Amino acid sequence: MADQQARTSSGDKRPSDIPAIRWEEPPEGPVLALLDQTRLPAEEVELVCTDAAALVEAIRSLAVRGAPLLGIAGAYGVALAAARGFDVIEAARALEEARPTAVNLSVGVRRAEAAYQAALARTGDPTAGAMAALAAARALHQEDAEASVRMAAHGLALLDELLPGGGHRILTHCNTGALVSGGEGTAFAVALAAHRAGRLRRLWVDETRPLLQGARLTAYEAARNGMAYSLLTDNAAGSLFAAGEVDAVLIGADRIAADGSVANKVGSYPLAVLARYHHVPFIVVAPVTTVDLDTPDGASIEVEQRPGFEVTEVMAPQVPVAGPGGGLPVAPLGTQAYNPAFDVTPPELVTAIVTEGGAASPVTAESLAELCAKSRQV
Ligand code: MRU
Repeated sequence: MADQQARTSSGDKRPSDIPAIRWEEPPEGPVLALLDQTRLPAEEVELVCTDAAALVEAIRSLAVRGAPLLGIAGAYGVALAAARGFDVIEAARALEEARPTAVNLSVGVRRAEAAYQAALARTGDPTAGAMAALAAARALHQEDAEASVRMAAHGLALLDELLPGGGHRILTHCNTGALVSGGEGTAFAVALAAHRAGRLRRLWVDETRPLLQGARLTAYEAARNGMAYSLLTDNAAGSLFAAGEVDAVLIGADRIAADGSVANKVGSYPLAVLARYHHVPFIVVAPVTTVDLDTPDGASIEVEQRPGFEVTEVMAPQVPVAGPGGGLPVAPLGTQAYNPAFDVTPPELVTAIVTEGGAASPVTAESLAELCAKSRQV
């Protein structure tokens, strides 16, 4: 039985004091504390997982989400299973399979699992294995924070080069900030760097239907950082481009295939088409852990299909009338829904891919492989 407990933030804590993920070692045994992203922005509540099964549930429900953070969570999940004496291999497979598209999840899980196995083989001691898994998770967490700093610098340099004169008006989709990262994020970190440098005129935030990661999470992060931002419905993006109000699109990624195809939150591909039509740069920012050279192309990326009720109901937890999914129905009962969590943008629509190692532009299999090699050396 999965063991999750909710813990409300104490009144003296500001929202920014609650990290997206935290390993704790109280006397009762180690736990993984997550900022429950399903409850934002209404309330800051920590979800405390005492086993990998609880973490699998948290991943599926999107309490913890976003590619880089899924990798970090997966690694800590293996460490948690090991520290609590559960079957590590079983836990690792369950974690890895919790969501299929973000490759970071399996990268993180496998890294911690490999560290566990190597230490166990060397010492024969499961405690040494558990310590090695935790060290691997902590290292990944720290590396992701460092990657974030580098991506922000490379991304801002690229923006300044593509858009001389400053005063950038950036459109973003989904949520790519501190809530999904060991640091300040990917695409959002670039926008934040532009803000700090005095060169962000406006951050346009797509609400990101159906689960509203843009409205609930990116707007929350933008507000906390004092950025000039406006929220728009996803279907208002076209008229925003047509009005000449977008200088660049910045998004993250869940998996980048070897040919440079980018899987990201559903709604990213239409933005790439709009950006091309309106001659606006479309920039993808992701750590090298999101690049999967073993997936040859976009068609080979598995896109997660999510339950229809996410589309047929408004899921606000404070809504008093509950439908089959627990939310307010916005379609007739029994309506079928198409609900892919991601879409895939082909490389020819991507102006540049930015990682901690720099930028690949134009995006080809060769430029991406070169960027990966460089990124792994930093
Ligand atoms: O379904 P989610 O909320 O996990 O989707 C997240 C995204 O699509 C993000 O844009 C992506 O993971 C990049 S986060 C740096």
